[in-house]
Amino acid sequence: MIKKLEDYISHVKKFSSQDSNEIESFKIEFLGRKGLINDLFSNFKNVPADKKKEYGQKINELKNLTSKKYEDLKLGVKQSSKSSREDYTKPGFPISSGSLHPITTIKNRIIDVFYKLGFGLSESPEIEDDWHNFTALNLPEDHPARDMQDTFFIQTDPDLLLRTHCSTIQIRHLEENPPPAKVIQAGRVYRNEAISSRSHCIFHQVDGIYVDEDVSFADLKQMVLYFAKSMFGKSKLRFRPSYFPFTEPSAEVDIYWGLETETDYKITKGTGWLEIMGCGMVDPKVLENCNIDSEKYTGYAFGMGIERIAMLIYQIPDIRLFFENDVRFLNQFK
Ligand code: DAH
Repeated sequence: MIKKLEDYISHVKKFSSQDSNEIESFKIEFLGRKGLINDLFSNFKNVPADKKKEYGQKINELKNLTSKKYEDLKLGVKQSSKSSREDYTKPGFPISSGSLHPITTIKNRIIDVFYKLGFGLSESPEIEDDWHNFTALNLPEDHPARDMQDTFFIQTDPDLLLRTHCSTIQIRHLEENPPPAKVIQAGRVYRNEAISSRSHCIFHQVDGIYVDEDVSFADLKQMVLYFAKSMFGKSKLRFRPSYFPFTEPSAEVDIYWGLETETDYKITKGTGWLEIMGCGMVDPKVLENCNIDSEKYTGYAFGMGIERIAMLIYQIPDIRLFFENDVRFLNQFK
């Protein structure tokens, strides 16, 4: 009788299968309600008293062994079916990396050019006060030139506004730093404008100032020439007289883009020329507003729209594309 139990034990130990039907049958055969182990238990009463102890131990051993075997085999089937669904020959998922926004790329390039010319980089608040955005830049209250820059005011404080240009750095920097001063600011500006293919309420500018003894219009022209060559690889320029309240004289700079392609005709409206920036000699009034001796010091200032520069370099026809964040557009700048 004991010998039979030992045979069962060694059978269970040896049993192995990957087939779930076979494994279930194994379980029913041994552990089922009418299975072998229950039979052996009911046979317990017929076992001679001196063998009962050994018999009991063997049945329990068989029962535990069988349950454990069944669980192990079931787990094996589960794992092998999972791994058979995984195809290790498939190519991996490509890791898609992002890229800098074209405005950021162009902004960084512009900063690099001015860095080489010795300009530092500075920052000032986007929520600005009237003094730094207008008054100190020679745009007193009620000055008609304020209309050139339709402004978003902060409702709760009539003195605060969203800066309409980066020229604020001229005042912010000169108030704190006596000349020589050579600095640019690159950042976001806000104007209450109708959104169209050429303008937008939010855009980006770079503005700069150089103030020292004997800074002249010739220095300004040299700087613009270096900038045009570095950014566009072009050096034919013209300075058109213009008006900005904070510079006198003032100019707008055009570069000769050429008329080689159809796009050249389109973007230059058939003239071959494109405007790239505004500039001029710092108005003495602005220097005085920053407590700088305008007899001793002179300076030049300039400002440009980053979107405009990016549109020229990448030949982008519509400013709104920069703000829509359409991946099909952005993917082209990887
Ligand atoms: N602030 C001007 C604007 O937003 C651009 C500008 C023109 C800036 C001439 C300058 C400058 O510093 O000298 O339209």
